[in-house]
Amino acid sequence: MRLTEVSPTTDNCCLLNRCFLNNPLANVVVIGAQWGDEGKGKITDLLSRSADVVVRYQGGVNAGHTVVVNDQTFKLHLIPSGILYPNTDCIIGSGTVIDPKVLIEELDMLDKLGVSTSHLFISESAHVTMPYHRMIDQASEERRGDHKIGTTGRGIGPTYADKSERTGIRILDLMDPEGMKKQLRWTVNYKNVILEKLYNLPHLDPEEVIAEYQVYADRLRPFVADCSLKIYDAYQQHRNILFEGAQGTLLDLDHGTYPYVTSSNPVAGGACVGTGVGPTMIDRVIGVAKAYTTRVGEGPFPTELHDEMGVALCERGAEFGTTTGRRRRCGWFDAVIGRYAVRINGLDCLAVTKLDILDEVDEIKVCVAYEIDGHESKDFPTNARQFSRCNPVYKTLPGWKQSTIHCRTLEDLPPKALDYLKFLASIVEVPIAIVSLGAERDETIIVEDPIHGPKRALLYSNGESQAMSA
Ligand code: GDP
Ligand code: IMO
Ligand code: MG
Repeated sequence: MRLTEVSPTTDNCCLLNRCFLNNPLANVVVIGAQWGDEGKGKITDLLSRSADVVVRYQGGVNAGHTVVVNDQTFKLHLIPSGILYPNTDCIIGSGTVIDPKVLIEELDMLDKLGVSTSHLFISESAHVTMPYHRMIDQASEERRGDHKIGTTGRGIGPTYADKSERTGIRILDLMDPEGMKKQLRWTVNYKNVILEKLYNLPHLDPEEVIAEYQVYADRLRPFVADCSLKIYDAYQQHRNILFEGAQGTLLDLDHGTYPYVTSSNPVAGGACVGTGVGPTMIDRVIGVAKAYTTRVGEGPFPTELHDEMGVALCERGAEFGTTTGRRRRCGWFDAVIGRYAVRINGLDCLAVTKLDILDEVDEIKVCVAYEIDGHESKDFPTNARQFSRCNPVYKTLPGWKQSTIHCRTLEDLPPKALDYLKFLASIVEVPIAIVSLGAERDETIIVEDPIHGPKRALLYSNGESQAMSA
C-alpha cells in the first residue's frame, strides 16, 4: 500500500493526507535548499505520516533536526525525523557517518520520552566517527586560524577523509570483536603519530578505545542491517520511501561554497550514493527553504544582515544552532541561491518555512540577482572567489504586519504574505507546495494547487502524470 490509512478529519494533517492521497507520496527526497537548518526535520516529520520508510543518506552528528509535537521538542542528530511514527521504518544509510556515543545518547533520549526505536536500522557500511576524528577536527580548525571553516567540531570531515583514504572504520568492523581489536590497534597507533607530531596532542591508548567501542558495538548490534537491501525490498513492495537530507545545497562538498562546506553530498543526488538506490527509484524532490536565509560557520553570505534587522531575525527566529548552540548569521531570502538549488537538485517544489518570522517586518527584501565586478547575473557563480565578491541586487516588498501562525490555507494569509510567496515561487521558478508558519505539525499550509503555475508534470508511481496547476 502506498499510503497509511487516514481518517477524514479537518485538522491540517488531514489536509496533508488529502493532498498526498490524490498525489501518492511515492519515493521522495527532502533536501535543504540553503545552508542548512531550513526546517528539514519539521517537513520530514510532517511527510513521514505518509511514508513507510524514512532514510538519512549523508552527514553525521553535525546535523540537528528539530521536530516539535504538542509542545514536546525532539532534537535529532542521526536518527531520521520519521522516528515518531511507530509503523515507519527508519534507516541510517551507508552514506552517513555515525558517532556511536551520540547515537546512543539519542536512543536514550527517545527512550526516556517514550518513543520506540524498535523500527530503527543502521547500515553496516556506514563509517564510524572515532575520538581521533573529533580531536583532529577541532585541532585543525584551530590551526587554520583566519582560514577556519567554522565546523561543528564533531569530527565529520576527518571521518569522511578516512573513508576516502580507506583507513575508515565501518559499523560492520565494530560488529566483529576480534577483527575490530586488530584494526583499531593499527589505526589508533597510526593516528597517534598524526595527533602527536602534527597537532601536539596527547596520544590515545588503543586498548581504551577498543574497550569504549566494544560497549557501543554491543548496544548498536540489534539495529545493524543490510539497509540497501532493505530499501530495495521496500521499493519492490511499493512502499513509500522518504530520503531525508541533512545540511543543505550550499554546504555540499561538490556544489556548495567550497571550502566552506561540509564533507558529504547533501544534494538530492547524494540520496542514491548514500543509500545504494538507483536514480530511477526516486520520484520527486522537495527543497526546504526558509522565508529568509541563515548560515552557521564561516564563508561568504551575500544577503547577510549586519544591522538591527539581522539581530531581529535571529532573535525572533531563535536562530541558534541545534547542535552547537552557535548564533546563526541571518539575511534576506536569496533567489539566486534558490534557483541554483532548483537546478542542482532537480527540485519539483519548495517547502517554505518560518514565514511567521517575517510577520512584523515593515519591508522585506529579496535578492533577485548578484552584481559581480560591475555585471549583473541571476546565475550562481561556482567560482568561490567570485562568490565572495557578489553584491545582492534587491527587490523590496511590503510586509504584512500581522500574525500568520494561525493560517491554515492560502486564503487565510494576509494578501501581502501571499504576494510574497507568489513572488518567491515566480523568481525561483518552482511551485511552493508547503508553507510553514510555526514549529508544530499543524502550523502548516499544505498547498494543494501550488501557487506558482505549472513548471513540470509530476510523475506518480501509478504512471499517471499530473501537472501542478495554478
Ligand atoms: P533542520 O536542520 O533543517 O531540520 O532545521 P533545525 O531544526 O536546525 O532549525 C529549524 C528551527 O526552526 C527548529 O527549531 C524548528 O523547530 C523551527 N521551525 C521549523 N519550521 C518553523 C516555522 O515555520 N516557524 C517557526 N517559527 N519555527 C520553525
Ligand atoms: P542540519 O542538517 C547548518 C556547517 C558548519 C560549518 C560547515 C562544516 O541541521 O541542517 P562540519 O562540522 O560539517 O564539517 O562543518 O557546515 N554545518 C551546518 N550548518 N546546519 C547543519 O546541519 C550543518 N552541518 C554542518 O556550521 O559551517
Ligand atoms: Mg539543523
